[in-house]
Amino acid sequence: MKKREQFASQFGIIMVAVGSAVGLGNIWRFSYILGVNGGGAFLLVYILCVVLIGLPVLISELTIGRASGQSPVNAFMKLAPGSYWWLTGAVAVLAAIIIACYYPTLAGWALGYVVESITNQTELLQDPQGAFAAFSSGPKALIYGAIALAATVAILMRGVTAGIERWSKLLMPILALLMLVLVVRSLTLPGAMEGVRFLFYPDFSKLTVSGFLDALGHSFYSLSLGMGIMITYASYMKKDTNLPITTISIVTMDTGVALLAGLAIFPAVFALGFDPAQGVGLAFITLPSAFAHMPFGSFFSAAFFLLVFISALTSLLSIFQVPLAFLEDRFGFSKKKGLALISVVTVAFGIPSVLSFGPLKNFKPFGMDYFTLMDTVANNILLPTAALLGCLFIALRMGTRASKKEFLEGAKNQGHFLSKVYPFAIRFLAPIAILVILIRAFTALF
Ligand code: PHE
Repeated sequence: MKKREQFASQFGIIMVAVGSAVGLGNIWRFSYILGVNGGGAFLLVYILCVVLIGLPVLISELTIGRASGQSPVNAFMKLAPGSYWWLTGAVAVLAAIIIACYYPTLAGWALGYVVESITNQTELLQDPQGAFAAFSSGPKALIYGAIALAATVAILMRGVTAGIERWSKLLMPILALLMLVLVVRSLTLPGAMEGVRFLFYPDFSKLTVSGFLDALGHSFYSLSLGMGIMITYASYMKKDTNLPITTISIVTMDTGVALLAGLAIFPAVFALGFDPAQGVGLAFITLPSAFAHMPFGSFFSAAFFLLVFISALTSLLSIFQVPLAFLEDRFGFSKKKGLALISVVTVAFGIPSVLSFGPLKNFKPFGMDYFTLMDTVANNILLPTAALLGCLFIALRMGTRASKKEFLEGAKNQGHFLSKVYPFAIRFLAPIAILVILIRAFTALF
């Protein structure tokens, strides 16, 4: 049997895992749901959800992946032979495939907007809504989506170390740098403080039950949980990889980038008198026009969308690696054949997701357009289902003791506090919280 590839360095591992976690979720989704839910109070709840529920689930996925050294379906087969626990992995792989079909659409928008920011500035300034509608419903969206997909496949072809790890180590520092430039730009605008206040000042009267559940759901999405990513990535980690450091880095950097994104976005939104609660269009409609009002606006706008694109690309790598590793481990596919099959599937099911902003606008199975349907099924149903089954697997089959032991192996005396609270969190807190999200998702759907 061919020896499994392994990540080369601890730094590389952190860049790869943070690269997956930091994505459109941190920049586009986080800022718009924070805006809709009234700012600071939502932020507090979100941080609580990340620490109390996201973090233990992350630990569980990392330990399942490294203990088995296998991608999700095989991991459960190996750790619980002769049982049906592998279905947990199957749900996660299915979620990953669905997300892989529509995420390139968003990555394509970001890439396209790098170019549009420079070539089409007047229109972004005068009619940002119209410019976005024209862009997202036209052929450009398809072309840029295809480029995002091709870049992903090309990097994955090089393999885990020379592809994913190498590119993440290059791209993530660039992302951090762009982020800092934008935060400084935004914070030095006149009137910026109002945006900072909106982000940090907790006004609890604005907090609703649905805000709570949004925060919980988003913490999963943002940490890339329930889609097999962390299991798959951990399967390439050596036994001396420091899992506590890896876990803490993922959680703090993922939340840190979301906060920095908020600091880049809200001061600009307030300084220029836009509405922070305007929803999905915040990143693609409000911001370009906000940037267009500034000196050197096209530069800052292009930098912002480049940042969004980089964050999306490193997330795409992780989401595509899940089905690829599954095909390799389960059915002995070569990388080339695996990627070919996955490309065919994601193109076939991905094209309608691009078109659902244009020609397929009125095609509404289950009352939602195709893009929203894919997003809803994956994020609201499959992700929490896989995460819940994962918690139950630790509680009922693998055992918190074995999971804890795996967590501390290679940890050099770190992680003791975490490993003390982990068993309680993964057996009680996390499954109950996830069950509530799932019930809400089902009642919303039917
Ligand atoms: N954590 C990612 C984000 O915040 C979620 C994600 C990962 C989505 C990988 C798709 C692919 O955007």
